[in-house]
Amino acid sequence: MILPSTSKVNKNGHLEIGGCDLALLAANYGTPLFVYDEDTLRGQCRLYKNSFLGLKSNSEVIYASKAFVCLGICQLVNNEGLSIDVSSAGELYTALEAGFSPDKIYFHGNNKTDEELALAVDNKVGIIVVDSFMELSRLKELLNNRGVKQKIYLRITPGIKASTHEYIQTGQEDSKFGFSLGGAATLAVKKALENNCFNLSGLHAHIGSQIFATRSFSKAVEVIMEFAKTLNEKTGFVMRELDIGGGLGIKYHADDEPSTVEEYAKVISKAVTKQANRLNLQEPKILVEPGRSIVGTAGVTLYTVGTIKEIKGIRTFVSVDGGMSDNLRPMLYDAKYEALLANKAKAKASQKVTIAGKHCESGDVLIKDAMLPEVEMGDILCTPATGAYGYVMANNYNRQRKPAVVIVKDGQVKELIARESLEDLIRLDKRLKA
Ligand SMILES: Cc1ncc(COP(=O)(O)O)c(C=O)c1O
Repeated sequence: MILPSTSKVNKNGHLEIGGCDLALLAANYGTPLFVYDEDTLRGQCRLYKNSFLGLKSNSEVIYASKAFVCLGICQLVNNEGLSIDVSSAGELYTALEAGFSPDKIYFHGNNKTDEELALAVDNKVGIIVVDSFMELSRLKELLNNRGVKQKIYLRITPGIKASTHEYIQTGQEDSKFGFSLGGAATLAVKKALENNCFNLSGLHAHIGSQIFATRSFSKAVEVIMEFAKTLNEKTGFVMRELDIGGGLGIKYHADDEPSTVEEYAKVISKAVTKQANRLNLQEPKILVEPGRSIVGTAGVTLYTVGTIKEIKGIRTFVSVDGGMSDNLRPMLYDAKYEALLANKAKAKASQKVTIAGKHCESGDVLIKDAMLPEVEMGDILCTPATGAYGYVMANNYNRQRKPAVVIVKDGQVKELIARESLEDLIRLDKRLKA
């Protein structure tokens, strides 16, 4: 389940995804290469939509584009009927260029610039998720100058800190995101209600990412709906929409046990109904914003093995032609991955090695203890579950060219993003005049 749903080993002993031999893809498109499986990706979009709509007709699934964004992915997600969450002018522009109807765009961010707010308002995005008092007043001014009204949510921090397996309720105010429940959120709602330029239709919260314990989500629903009840009594505000953010975890390892999308949908839907009944509130529309669990498992990365350095009694370094320039997660937050050799997919994993990148940092290590078959220079190393927060964090450290990204289905390959060229790397550089 770490690999995309169409994965299989072909008669040559090579790993195949979407009917395409990964070793051949590496030969044709070069490495590092991101490969997405269209069936897995579309399957996740449908699973999310069907799971929520099957339980609540008044629900909406919004793809969190920060997980992986480019024109092709936006087109595909749009085609599957999902809405989209963006958190910068760049993501917004990409979604619009890909043909997303503006009313299906949700605009997030704790520090939206004036330019970004104007871009969102002028393009008539569906919802702006307001994150701070300063943003509320800047947006008010912008809307009044234009004489237009904007639908908004307020982002609140419900004080639920979710780790993979559990949550803790901290009541913490120490977050750069949103309004805390300790008074700030109530004041923000009052301010939003006082101004005609805002149509405050709901609240938003995002409690974290790579969460396995669905209890964290039901607890967040409980806290937010209790808050909505208090707000209703104090201000008359009716929370018609509740956007509970993203965060459902995926499997990076054989022993990871994330919840299924169906279970996640059930827990959230049940919690909303239960709390609405308990608090005597109108049931809000439910919105969720999955990113990782839409694209994470659909994508793998291919590398070519280069230098192999064995340090007797210590470790063997297997260096690949990418690293921290295409997958920052191991360096950013110690994320763990598994690896296999795509051209030796039937061979038994017999040795423990350290997979290192090619960059000038000792910390440029993708996997500390990977189990691989006998490995040689030229082998095609595949790291599964790299579809989310991989390419989008790619960078040009050491002037490495950003990889190409392809999507595969039924033996057909389509390029989503071309590999950067050497010319691309100096395109924006200015030469000094002699
Ligand atoms: C506001 C918001 N929504 C949705 C997401 C998507 O989270 P995930 O990829 O864990 O589903 C994030 C991720 O950071 C987020 O900040």
